[in-house]
Amino acid sequence: MQQFNDMTILAIETSCDETSAAVVCDGKILSNFVSSQTKLHAEYGGVVPELAAREHLRNLIPVVKSALREAGISMDQFDAVAATQGPGLPNALLVGFKAAQAVAFALRKPFVGINHHEAHLYSPWINEFEKFQPNISLIVSGGHTMLVLVESELKHRVLGSTIDDAAGECFDKTGKMMGLNYPAGPEIDRLAEQGNPSAFDFPRPLINDASDDFSFSGLKTSVRYFIRDNPALLDDAQKICDLCASVQAAIVEVLVKKTIRAAKRNNVRCVTASGGVTCNSALRGELARVCEHEGFTLRLAERSFCTDNAAMIGVLAERKSFRQVSLPPLDDEIKPGWVLV
Ligand code: KG4
Ligand code: ZN
Repeated sequence: MQQFNDMTILAIETSCDETSAAVVCDGKILSNFVSSQTKLHAEYGGVVPELAAREHLRNLIPVVKSALREAGISMDQFDAVAATQGPGLPNALLVGFKAAQAVAFALRKPFVGINHHEAHLYSPWINEFEKFQPNISLIVSGGHTMLVLVESELKHRVLGSTIDDAAGECFDKTGKMMGLNYPAGPEIDRLAEQGNPSAFDFPRPLINDASDDFSFSGLKTSVRYFIRDNPALLDDAQKICDLCASVQAAIVEVLVKKTIRAAKRNNVRCVTASGGVTCNSALRGELARVCEHEGFTLRLAERSFCTDNAAMIGVLAERKSFRQVSLPPLDDEIKPGWVLV
């Protein structure tokens, strides 16, 4: 099969509420343009799938044009097109995936459909794949929380996932209970800096469970009952900061403890983390502290590659081509429930 190294790839990502396009060439990101819809959905307290799809339709062409302009290339200069094929919101995925297929078809270029979770999984290596080493990877985002054993590049196995809510969902929903805007994760992170993480004691679900699975819905419920029983707390700015710090501490402790335990069990010396929640300062700080203490190499995705972006889609498409993974047929369909295995 054709290899894309030294070739230029146009990549598109529209799986949820970011419309993104990137141009990747020979391992380098020439542009990575992201148009976020968070303000649009904030009013509803979460992503409204139909609105997300309509917004992608409105934004996609300007975003692709911006990515091409920033990269300094025109439509006829790229050699392949990549797009997120799944998992994600069906109507949102359709917009980017079908547009990418149409461009590939019209320009007679190869097309690569990419698994969104797999793109997050390899995002800590963007710009430095030559440094790759076997690792335990924590993918932690608004829609997913999983631990993956990555034995070699593109050879991986999911060890465990959340059995209910994702960690980002827990940040967003507990934040909503505190009156914070969607997505609440970044705001909790900011407020927690002024708070006491030991002020309130919340459960650490499945922390000592033998599996590599996670569960965050019980933590969310206990925050709901705590606020119901202490409503005056939300009138006190310091107490809100304490609440943010305490909820964040519970989430981070579970994520870090289970990640490190998985790394030890599987005899790898490297830990990686990706996905939107990896922007969280407490998670980054605690992973760094524990990895240093335990002698693990830590690779965190850069913040700009943690939340959804097309650069990670283009980079993975390039790596797949480099490793000669076969391409999907050009008339392939979206895969909204495509699980990483
Ligand atoms: O990867 P992403 O952009 O979208 C999904 O694929 O889900 O992740 C979005 C999630 C949201 O739940 C958001 O609240 C969370 O990442 N997030 C954070 C922070 N920044 C984003 N959570 C905690 N602290 C942050 N600084
Ligand atoms: Zn994502």
